[in-house]
Amino acid sequence: MASYPFLIAFISSLCSFYILQTVSGSGPYRSIFSFGDSLADTGNSLFTGPFRNPFVVRLPYGQTFFGHPTGRFSDGRLIVDFIAEAYGLPKLPPYLASLHNHRLDFRRGVNFAVAGATALIPAFFQERGLNTVRWSNNSLSVQMGWFEQFKSSLCQTPQECADYFAKSLFLVGEIGGNDYNYAFLQGLSIAHVRTFVPKVVHAVAEATRRLIKQGAVDLVVPGNLPIGCSPIYLTLVSSPKKEDYNRRNGCLKALNRFSEYHNSLLQAALEKLRQKYPHAKIVYADYYGAAMRFIDHPQHFGFTNLNSACCGGGGPYNFNLSALCGATGSTVCIDPSTFASWDGIHLTEAAYRNIANGMIEGYYTTPPMTLPH
Ligand SMILES: *[C@@H]1O[C@H](CO)[C@@H](O)[C@H](O)[C@H]1NC(C)=O
Ligand SMILES: *[C@@H]1O[C@H](CO)[C@@H](O)[C@H](O)[C@H]1NC(C)=O
Repeated sequence: MASYPFLIAFISSLCSFYILQTVSGSGPYRSIFSFGDSLADTGNSLFTGPFRNPFVVRLPYGQTFFGHPTGRFSDGRLIVDFIAEAYGLPKLPPYLASLHNHRLDFRRGVNFAVAGATALIPAFFQERGLNTVRWSNNSLSVQMGWFEQFKSSLCQTPQECADYFAKSLFLVGEIGGNDYNYAFLQGLSIAHVRTFVPKVVHAVAEATRRLIKQGAVDLVVPGNLPIGCSPIYLTLVSSPKKEDYNRRNGCLKALNRFSEYHNSLLQAALEKLRQKYPHAKIVYADYYGAAMRFIDHPQHFGFTNLNSACCGGGGPYNFNLSALCGATGSTVCIDPSTFASWDGIHLTEAAYRNIANGMIEGYYTTPPMTLPH
């Protein structure tokens, strides 16, 4: 575990980073608000949760871009960082850092995403005999509560808030992946976990609706990644049957079909919201398709290794639950930019950059995202 004085020093360096950042800011948005899990968390998990990954506060996390750990579950920047950069906005400070530093400036954006977060509330899992709070207690509804509390510091009247939010970009996720991860990791079958999907999608759509009600106009709602390609699943759900794997890319077919199912229900739910709120621009971000682009054509994107983690504790996919990235016995690859998976669960900066580019170019967003310039 990280020692306490180390964590304090780490948190204060994190805070000064967000204060010193300077920004040009000539794009279409005044600010960005982000919700989600570890795919989007820029440091909140350092401040909350019964579960603290002891390794994310140390190198090699952060080695590629920041040169030091930031609380991001990657070697560098996340999708939300690349989006902020593209729009000329600062990298989003984690909301919970304000508990320790009151000078933080959230007017250009703030991030409510927390590693480990689920879309559904903990009670849903408890009723089904699943324990999730040991990983995270900050479901999407908790993050929405933070946002609703926080907004009084930006704007007072509903009209003022609506004006502010109309010039902001809202990223609602990715969220929902952990709802399935926790169930799969506790041994539930794909058929069983499929029954959760309509409920998870409803929670994401409901959060989107709540944001629109408060004045959000531009929203991006990402779907799930192809989880059948991730080293954690390839390791823990390995199959003796060759036909369970996609012949071309080596991914687990049934798990990728599961992600596709989630994504199709999510898109249908978003279409309903578009009809109900025609003034809002509700964009679906196809993380799955954007990832499949480099999974199916790795050489076009500089990747040489798609199924193994860059950082991990060995085994066929360099993923070992008893020796996670950063633990004694784990090793880091020489060039993370040639790997898609960073630690077997999360992606490398190179992979996140590819997905963000795919979104900003408009290929993997429906309707296309508003262009930065
Ligand atoms: C999780 O949050 C709920 C509501 O805020 C609280 O009642 C509960 O004690 C929390 N559980 C843990 C394990 O932190
Ligand atoms: C996983 O890590 C543990 C702890 O370091 C080690 O004992 C075990 O042999 C590793 N398993 C594989 C498959 O490498």
